[in-house]
Amino acid sequence: MVKSATKKTLKEKTKKFYITTPIYYPNDIPHIGHAYTTIAADILARWHKLVGEEVFFLTGTDEHGKKIEQTAAKVDKKPKEFIDALIPEFKSAWNKLNINYDRFIRTTDKDHEKTVQAILQKVYDKGDIYLDDYTGLYCTACEAYYTEKDLVNDCCPIHKKPIEILREKSYFFKLSKYQDKLLKFYKENPNFILPKFRANEVKARVKECLNDLSISRTSFDWGITLPFDKKHICYVWFDALFNYVSGVGYLEDKKKFEKFWPADVQLIGKDILWFHCVYWPAFLLSAGIELPKTIFAHGWWTFDNEKISKSRGKVINIDELVSIAGTDAARYFLFRGAVFGQDGDFSRQVLIERHNNELADKLGNLVSRVSTLAEKYGVKKCENKLLGKLKLKEIEKLIENYEIDKALNEIFAFVDRVNEFVQAEKPWETKDSKVLYQCVDSIKAIAILLFPFIPETSEKIAKNFGFEIKYENILENLEYKNIKKSEILFKKIEVKEDNVEEKLNKPKQTTKIEGIANMTDVIKYDDFAKLDLRVGTIKKVEDIEGADKLYKLEVDVGEAKTRVICAGIKKFYSKDELKGKQIIVICNLEPRKMRGIESNGMLLAASTADDSKVILLSPEKKIDSGSKVR
Ligand code: ME8
Ligand code: MG
Repeated sequence: MVKSATKKTLKEKTKKFYITTPIYYPNDIPHIGHAYTTIAADILARWHKLVGEEVFFLTGTDEHGKKIEQTAAKVDKKPKEFIDALIPEFKSAWNKLNINYDRFIRTTDKDHEKTVQAILQKVYDKGDIYLDDYTGLYCTACEAYYTEKDLVNDCCPIHKKPIEILREKSYFFKLSKYQDKLLKFYKENPNFILPKFRANEVKARVKECLNDLSISRTSFDWGITLPFDKKHICYVWFDALFNYVSGVGYLEDKKKFEKFWPADVQLIGKDILWFHCVYWPAFLLSAGIELPKTIFAHGWWTFDNEKISKSRGKVINIDELVSIAGTDAARYFLFRGAVFGQDGDFSRQVLIERHNNELADKLGNLVSRVSTLAEKYGVKKCENKLLGKLKLKEIEKLIENYEIDKALNEIFAFVDRVNEFVQAEKPWETKDSKVLYQCVDSIKAIAILLFPFIPETSEKIAKNFGFEIKYENILENLEYKNIKKSEILFKKIEVKEDNVEEKLNKPKQTTKIEGIANMTDVIKYDDFAKLDLRVGTIKKVEDIEGADKLYKLEVDVGEAKTRVICAGIKKFYSKDELKGKQIIVICNLEPRKMRGIESNGMLLAASTADDSKVILLSPEKKIDSGSKVR
């Protein structure tokens, strides 16, 4: 809960706010994807600090595991030596982006290693870890095992690299034991996984099946040794996830830990939702540690509509990002350019356009105009009627719901109101010092609210007009003296029109990976041609016992017999609407068992991003069942 500008009572204890980012793999320097999560955390941390809460903001690096070991070996370095050289890159990147974290944790930090060992011992003593044989298909780039059915042409579905077969003795964590406990927890804590639309997928998979998880390795040794068997090292995800508790003093600063744990929000990208919403709470349940309040998974950034990839030159690092239009413009763009929670596409040109049209023209001009006139004609304190147009309560509510982009929109809506006021009142003609006071006082409110987003700009404005960046000052009519004309806050940048046409025509494809992460990826025509898409006619619709979303359909796709297909459209269509309807079916999809029924195919449908609306695709006119779609 965010406190509004009203004064706190004495009895009220200062609220705490603990926020984390993933700890990134330091096998390369960070790019905009990493910057996005880290800036989001910085915005929220600064906001909560501004409203008077005690904040702890943790970020860092994930340094163990085979991936790092291999990357280091390629350049003939020991892992630690290799990583030590990369850490300054991360710290300087966060510095350039004005990230104000409280601790930068490295999983090679001694307190972290000791924490992981203490927790392993605790979980082992509890009987949740046992030794067994393991053979698995492993992708080192993901640091994860896959099953046969996950593979695409015998390769990892994400990295498209050949999968390795690993055979080893391994300790297992009894993940299966936590299936019901997790389901119960999700049910009782509807805000644990946010945005809510991401929770359904996780719950469905947990409900389907949870296998025990191999959590130790003997095939390499860059990791934390198990305290009960020195021949084994700890699986990198077990190690990494516990940074969130070791980083806040679990072992070495009990007071701090008690104050800040559980985390209020843990920001992640949707790629690591499963690890954070299934493994992480299960490990914590086993270790007897309280669970975090919220895991918030944001969307995925592409670059000019392509997957961010270093090898294809589709990557933008922090130096490049900041060099386009400065730090504040970069921070602003990332949260104006995409809905927090949904995917976004990065383009230099759009960043420059937003910088010019919004930061320079709207905010920069307002400050420059008003300060120039205030210097000339002075300001006279009066009631600031404009503040009534500021939707402060709504902005607070939006931040509380992690709708960062919408909060920023709402602040800029107020910038528009103030610009309209200036336009209507023409203080350059009237020289009205009361009008100018109201403009200055409104700019103060804007600068304070924008501080979490664009701190450097806010500080310049505060200095220029002589006020303090304090939350209580937002709605307070302050006194302003000796206002001077402000420096130019945002210098306009020339836009180079490059291949806009080509960009717009490029198809953006989305493949579902592991049923959770939507990764944009370009496929060849031949891949598309493999799909057997046909027109089907729905012959029969039945309920499935116990399933509130699924129908069992019998569909004629031009074969001797109708096909049974289970479809999650019950919420959107009645049985009568479906009977006789023609739809599009993927006929060569691997059969899948749902609620004990084998489903042979899938219907195509369009859905809104939050799945609140689903509409079946249907041929425009009647055509024979079994007609090809191409
Ligand atoms: O997964 N769009 O580290 P990682 C949006 N070490 N966000 C992106 C992104 C993109 N294109 N690319 C990266 C790991 N990110 C583990 C985490 S936590 C205990 C261990 C961001 O270096 C996003 O936050 O692969 C994503 O979840 C994270 O970087 C993955 O970073
Ligand atoms: Mg990754």
